[in-house]
Amino acid sequence: MSKIDLLNQLVADLSIAFVKFHNLHWNVIGEPGERFKEVHEYAEELYDMLNENYDEVAERVKMLGEFPPASAKAYLERTKIEELENRDYTIHETYEHLRDTLEYLRGLIADARNKADEDDDFATVAMLEDIVQDYDKHIWFIKQALK
Ligand SMILES: [Fe+2]
Repeated sequence: MSKIDLLNQLVADLSIAFVKFHNLHWNVIGEPGERFKEVHEYAEELYDMLNENYDEVAERVKMLGEFPPASAKAYLERTKIEELENRDYTIHETYEHLRDTLEYLRGLIADARNKADEDDDFATVAMLEDIVQDYDKHIWFIKQALK
C-alpha cells in the first residue's frame, strides 16, 4: 500500500477502534477482587487517545493534498478491526481486546511511518513516532495488568 493508503487505513481503523473501545468501556464487568471502575476509566483514556490520533492523522492526509475517508460507511468498508458483540466483558477479556487492538494499530502505524520515511516525509514520520511511543506505553501497561 502507498503511504496515503496506509494513513487512510489508519483513519478508518482508528474510527472503528474508537467505537470498539466504547463498547468495552460500557460493558466491562467487575469480578471478585477486581476493580471495575479502573478498567472502565482506562478504556476511556484509550478511546480519547484514539480520537486525537484519528483527527491528527486525517489532518495530515489533508496537508499531503489528499482526502481522508470521512464517513462511517467508508470506515466500515475499509477497516480491518473486528467489532465486538454487545455483551458483558470480564476485565481479563477487556484487557485482551484492548491489547490486541492496540498491537494491530501499532503495526499499521509502524508500516505508515516506514513508508513516510521512504518519501523523506519527516513531518509524518515524527507524528507517527510520537503516536507509537504512546501505544508502546499502553501495550506495556496492559501486558503488566494481564500477568
Ligand atoms: Fe463514559
